[in-house]
Amino acid sequence: MVTALRVPRQGLVRLLLGVCVMPWTEGGKVLVVPVEGSHWLSMRDLVRELHSRGHQAVVLAPEVSLHIKGEDFFTLNSFAFPYTQEEYNNFFSEGKFILESQNFLERHSKIISSFKKFSELYEKSCVQMLRNSTLMSQLNASSFDVVLTDPVFPCGAVLAQYLSVPAVFFLRGIPCGLDFEGTQCPHPLSYVPQWFTSYSDHMTFLQRVKNMLYPVGLKLFCHMAFSPYASFASELLQKEVSVVDLFSHASMWLMRWDFVLEYPRPIMPNMVFIGGINCMRRKPLSQEFEAYVNASGEHGVVVFSLGSMVSEIPEKKAMAIAEGLGRIPQTVLWRYTGTPPSNLAKNTILVKWLPQNDLLGHPKTRAFITHAGSHGIYEGICNGVPMVMMPLFGDQMDNAKRMETRGAGVTLNVLEMTSDDLEGALKKVIYDKSYKENILRLSSLHKDRPIEPLDLAVFWVEFVMRHKGAPHLRPAAHDLTWYQYHSLDVIGFLLAIVLVVAFITFKCCAYGFRKCFGKKGRGKKTHKSKTH
Ligand SMILES: *[C@@H]1O[C@H](CO)[C@@H](O)[C@H](O)[C@H]1NC(C)=O
Ligand SMILES: *[C@@H]1O[C@H](CO)[C@@H](O)[C@H](O)[C@H]1NC(C)=O
Ligand SMILES: *[C@@H]1O[C@H](CO)[C@@H](O)[C@H](O)[C@H]1NC(C)=O
Repeated sequence: MVTALRVPRQGLVRLLLGVCVMPWTEGGKVLVVPVEGSHWLSMRDLVRELHSRGHQAVVLAPEVSLHIKGEDFFTLNSFAFPYTQEEYNNFFSEGKFILESQNFLERHSKIISSFKKFSELYEKSCVQMLRNSTLMSQLNASSFDVVLTDPVFPCGAVLAQYLSVPAVFFLRGIPCGLDFEGTQCPHPLSYVPQWFTSYSDHMTFLQRVKNMLYPVGLKLFCHMAFSPYASFASELLQKEVSVVDLFSHASMWLMRWDFVLEYPRPIMPNMVFIGGINCMRRKPLSQEFEAYVNASGEHGVVVFSLGSMVSEIPEKKAMAIAEGLGRIPQTVLWRYTGTPPSNLAKNTILVKWLPQNDLLGHPKTRAFITHAGSHGIYEGICNGVPMVMMPLFGDQMDNAKRMETRGAGVTLNVLEMTSDDLEGALKKVIYDKSYKENILRLSSLHKDRPIEPLDLAVFWVEFVMRHKGAPHLRPAAHDLTWYQYHSLDVIGFLLAIVLVVAFITFKCCAYGFRKCFGKKGRGKKTHKSKTH
């Protein structure tokens, strides 16, 4: 009786207070190990939400950073970094080189060497941090309930294992399919395109060949980037740990994915999709931007940003872009910090920063010119704005391909495009109604969900804290060798039986044949020869 009465009352209270009621009664302690750049920006929203639900967050980050600064909803615990802020900022403005080099190989080798430099820096400061025994015993004494980290640099993953705290990963992906190895998630190469191939899920025979071979080259690169963490972790944990072991420690993988962007594919029980987590917080426009939008008249505005890493463009390219932009009737709001191109048209307004998501949510926004980073793409989808995409590196080519195959945007090669191409692409997405219809359809699919991505992410972080991990979701595949996983031992065993049976049958038959016909035949012959 008592329980029968209590259950509906609890349910009613929850219903009335909605999300304000915390299913978790006492606050937990979250150790956050973020990664620089846009990676942090969406994780910050989650940390803010965890704070507002009564949890304590400590953010562990290098003392030099672009975006990770102290805020009132977490405690910032910074560690030494071998660069000064100025050197570090310069390092990022090297993003410009991507637009300067004309040659594919040159560009890629520059991207790789730049990534290598960055990952070495990160690794060095991570190792220094983990070797600081004062800091480590401080962290150990704080007895955190969970480590929330982006594993693309697995510093937090090592730390979580070292402190024996369950980990929740928050990520877009890890190169070389290490995310699928870390989760033991099936990854059939016949219809799941690898990162960086820019293939769709319908591949021709040759594309499937390349899809299978592509990772071989990339693996070397990933080995270079990730193996130092494994060897360091082995030293720290005093047992042999591989790169995959580091990743497979995670209790839960919060993936910034959604099937409106990703192609349908298998997933695992501890993978949860929270794509679009970054476009929830829309605020009204400031006076400045509202005035621009109001002044744009019936034609509306176009929002243009190449993301937080690239804000300067070589002069020649900037002039070609400015010319293309000048030929459309819309007002263009362009986030650009370089020297203004001399041919800038009247309709183009340069700003040092723009409230991207808020602008995209304005009904007068007609198109979005983007570098196709995942955050921007999701903001375009949430707000239903067709896109002109200029992918530069990383997952951007793949994101652009996905949007293009869904008819929600046009991709331009930023290195080769002319002002005519830009003008044509903009007019196409603005005046060809199908682009708007397709992006609105994706938008309504994306937003039709039982729970908002931010609430889902909070739920799973709290779940892992409540239950001290999620070992019941861990597939036994982690404990198998590769030949056991693919059942090669079983297949071999069965094959051996078949062969033995076939051999015995053959031998018996041959023997039987000889018995029945062989001797008889010969006998007959001899008999015949005898009778004659
Ligand atoms: C180790 O960490 C402590 C506490 O955060 C800090 O005060 C100290 O400077 C660090 N030592 C080194 C060598 O980085
Ligand atoms: C953390 O503290 C516990 C108990 O005080 C101790 O057993 C453990 O070895 C410590 N771990 C690390 C990594 O220092
Ligand atoms: C923009 O237009 C709206 C509606 O016409 C008006 O309410 C608002 O005050 C205008 N804002 C500015 C900054 O001019």
